[in-house]
Amino acid sequence: MENKTWYKEMSVYQIWCRSFCDGNGDGIGDLWGVLSKLDYIKSLGVDGIWFSPIYPSPNADYGYDISDYKNIHPDFGNLEVFKQVLDGAHERGMRVFMDLVINHTSDEHPWFIESKKGKDNPYHDYYFWRKGKGKKRPPNNWDSLFEGGAWEYDEGLDEWYLHIFSKKQPDLNMDNPKVREEVKSIMRFWLDMGVDGFREDVITYISKVDGLPSAKVKLPAATGMQYYADGPRVHEYLAEFKRDVLDFYDCFTVGEGSLMSTNTALGYVQEGENQVLNMMISFSHMQADCLVTDFIQRPFSLTKLKKSLSEWQNGLYPNAWNCLYLENHDHPRIISRYGSEKYRVESGKMLAASYLFLRGTPFVYQGQEIGMLNNYLPNLEDYRDIMMKNNYRIARKLGLPKKKVFEMAQKGTRDNARTPVQWSNEKNAGFTEGTPWFGVNPNYPEINAESQLEDENSLLNFYRKALEFRKENEVCIYGDYKEHLKNSKDLYVYERNLGERKLLVICSFTEKTVRFDAPEGIDLDEGKQVFGNYESCFVIGNGFTTRPYEMRVYLF
Ligand code: GLC
Repeated sequence: MENKTWYKEMSVYQIWCRSFCDGNGDGIGDLWGVLSKLDYIKSLGVDGIWFSPIYPSPNADYGYDISDYKNIHPDFGNLEVFKQVLDGAHERGMRVFMDLVINHTSDEHPWFIESKKGKDNPYHDYYFWRKGKGKKRPPNNWDSLFEGGAWEYDEGLDEWYLHIFSKKQPDLNMDNPKVREEVKSIMRFWLDMGVDGFREDVITYISKVDGLPSAKVKLPAATGMQYYADGPRVHEYLAEFKRDVLDFYDCFTVGEGSLMSTNTALGYVQEGENQVLNMMISFSHMQADCLVTDFIQRPFSLTKLKKSLSEWQNGLYPNAWNCLYLENHDHPRIISRYGSEKYRVESGKMLAASYLFLRGTPFVYQGQEIGMLNNYLPNLEDYRDIMMKNNYRIARKLGLPKKKVFEMAQKGTRDNARTPVQWSNEKNAGFTEGTPWFGVNPNYPEINAESQLEDENSLLNFYRKALEFRKENEVCIYGDYKEHLKNSKDLYVYERNLGERKLLVICSFTEKTVRFDAPEGIDLDEGKQVFGNYESCFVIGNGFTTRPYEMRVYLF
């Protein structure tokens, strides 16, 4: 029996606040801006908003380095305006989810400042402080994912602290029960205010193997990951948070899962008494054009993408639920990657259909709904993304030529997703009256929300209709999943079935013309074409020849 719940039926809009909409003219997106756009967000047909971190932060990693978990960054507003946003969202029938970043804090968090004061300080054990060989040799050979080695030396203590991300993001010691109590208190703070759940940042990293052993093999990057990814007590800690806090609220959690198999994911999200998260953000479908990270690009492979999507669709069926996404604040824009900038609108609609009708909860990232594209900047210094700068250093150290590495950086940087949202063709794309904190993509006169609102056939209106359709047709939500033409390098075809209803989705990932023949047992003439990205869609001989990036959805 299908376990039907609200979080399976919803779709979510993600806001990375700094670049969303500036309401007070200082060039930085803020909660006043969000407030002014609540009707717009609602009009997309979504049922929830996930805020990337909006807490006070020195911004070494733009909010993912938190210095106060129970407040709002002054750049974004204050608790009062947040409350207005929360109420405004609720009044419109949308839930609100916060980003919970508990693997690490900022080094400017009062806990860390205290922890540095002495080995007897009650906060010392909130973090991983260890002796090395003096200041020369760190306690182990792990790499940080953002900045050289994973350890930073402190002269005063003659000890090193662990940071899996940048040195301004020291890892919290979750083995300390006091730290877990702090986490629970943070959760309760937001849930009591009315927040509806959390997106849990790098949550599978929160438990480290005892003794923090050195890795046997030193890799060019990410050495030591096997000692903290899916660590020994992560399930125990998440179960504790659930038992002590989450179970008391009608809320939901989605964890960020790094690279993992569906089996590992099931350990967290399989429905039943051991379930500790509602959903997991998977990564493998984001690697159809790159190797491990977006930084190392390869030609796009549709077969790779399809293999991953089907693996997760089938692997989590029927007792676990997928988190569906193609964009977020950590990845370059999807049309620039898996689609075509030349066929921006066509490929944008096709990409939307390729994932919005899968089994799972769809997430849409700000600007995705209007087809924003990557923005390539001329100099390395123009970029802000700390992760890309780390990858750049590593690639240069490995001896790759400067020009090539810079091109990889331009394509792979997370900054592609972090340019201001293009609201109109007015100055600064209508994002701010001041000077934008980060460059607006110069294509805004052509690509902006305002011009698409009026245009019946725009990408924006496609997202609206598709999300509405998903809500009104249960087959899109609870139907099962079956892939066709697995070996096709150009077409992604899947069907969903629920009772008598069938949905057939056909997506061409190429500019070329390709002949599509309906799978055995399906007569296209018996179905109704409910979506497409071209006018005049004929069916000839129970199939058709695709136009560039053509997409069609049939309902039977
Ligand atoms: C997650 C976030 C990313 C951040 C990292 C460290 O991957 O999505 O933006 O840099 O965690 O907190």
